[in-house]
Amino acid sequence: MDIQQKIEKIKEEIKVFDATSDYELESFRIKFLGKKNGILTFLFKELKKFSIQDKKYFGKIINNLKKQVTEKIQLKKLKQQKNIPHFDPTLPGIYKEIGSMHPISILIHRIIELFSKIGFSVVEGPEIEDDWHNFTALNIPPEHPSREMQDTFFLYNNTDSLLRTHTSSVQIRYMKKHVPPFRIISLGKVYRNETISTHSHFMFHQAEGFYIDKKVTFLDLKQTILYLIHSIFGDITKVRFRPSYFPFTEPSAEVDIYFGKTMGWIEIMGCGMIDPKVLKNVNIDSEIYSGFAFGIGIERLSILIYKINDIRIYFENDMNFLRHFQSEF
Ligand code: PHE
Repeated sequence: MDIQQKIEKIKEEIKVFDATSDYELESFRIKFLGKKNGILTFLFKELKKFSIQDKKYFGKIINNLKKQVTEKIQLKKLKQQKNIPHFDPTLPGIYKEIGSMHPISILIHRIIELFSKIGFSVVEGPEIEDDWHNFTALNIPPEHPSREMQDTFFLYNNTDSLLRTHTSSVQIRYMKKHVPPFRIISLGKVYRNETISTHSHFMFHQAEGFYIDKKVTFLDLKQTILYLIHSIFGDITKVRFRPSYFPFTEPSAEVDIYFGKTMGWIEIMGCGMIDPKVLKNVNIDSEIYSGFAFGIGIERLSILIYKINDIRIYFENDMNFLRHFQSEF
C-alpha cells in the first residue's frame, strides 16, 4: 500500500468514526496519535525519508489529518459535557411551591377533630347511591315534593342509580348494620342539579352527624350543635333554632347564626330528632331508642368563617386564593 492509499484509508476511517464512550474516544486518539504506534505519528516519522517536495506535499496532508482527529475528539468531548448536568452551587435554587390543604379539607379536618372529642366516629358512604338509601328509607317516598328540593343526577338512565343528594344516606347505611348506641359523623361530596342556587357548581360537601341511644333528646342535639358553632365562631355567637321540616326528622329545625346587623341571621344547617319511621326502616326499635341527626354544608360554613362572597372560588384552583390557607396546616 503506498502512502497515497494509506492516506485515503485514514481519511475514511476518521470520517466514519463515532464514539459512544470515553474509552472508545481514547482508543481512537491512541490509534492515530499515540506516541509509540500511532498511525499518523508513524507517517510523520516516515516523512523524513521523502524528498523535500514530497515532504512538503504529504506533510501538509498528514498535518491536516492530525487536525481532523483532534477536532473530532474535542467535538465529541464537548457533546458529552453538554449531556452531563452542569452544577453551579452559586446559582439561585429552583423554587418549588409547596402545596397546602384546600380550605374545604381544612374545615373537614376541623369538624372531625371537634366531634372526635365528644365521642363521634367517622364513617364514609358511597357517592353513588340507590333510591332506597338516598330517599325512600329516609321517609321520602316517590312523588314526595321534597324530592323536588334536591334535583337529582341519575346515572346510566337508571332511576335506581344516582349521585347522592345529601349525606343522610349514610345514616341509613350505618344504622342498618349496627346496633345502638352510636355517635357517627360522615363527611363527603353530595350532588344536586341546582343551577339557580349558590351551589351552582353541582357538587358541594356536607357533614352529617347522628347519635342514637336510649333517651337522646332535643337537648342533646341542641348542646351538640352549640358546641360545634361556639368552637368555630366563638362562645358569644348568637344561635337560633328555627322550626323547619325534613321528612326524616321530627321535630326538625334549621340553625341560624347571627352575623351582625348587615348580614343578619344566616342559615347554616338542618337538624332534628330522627323520625321513628326512619328508625323502623332500619330495624331500630323507636320505643327503646331515639336519636338526632344534623347536616351541614361545608362550603356554606367555610365562606362564613373566611368571609368569602362567592362559593365558586373554592373550585377554581386559583393559587392566589389557595395560598392564603398555607399557614392553617
Ligand atoms: N339532609 C338534609 C339536607 O341535605 C340536612 C339534614 C340532615 C337535615 C340531617 C336534618 C337532619 O338538606
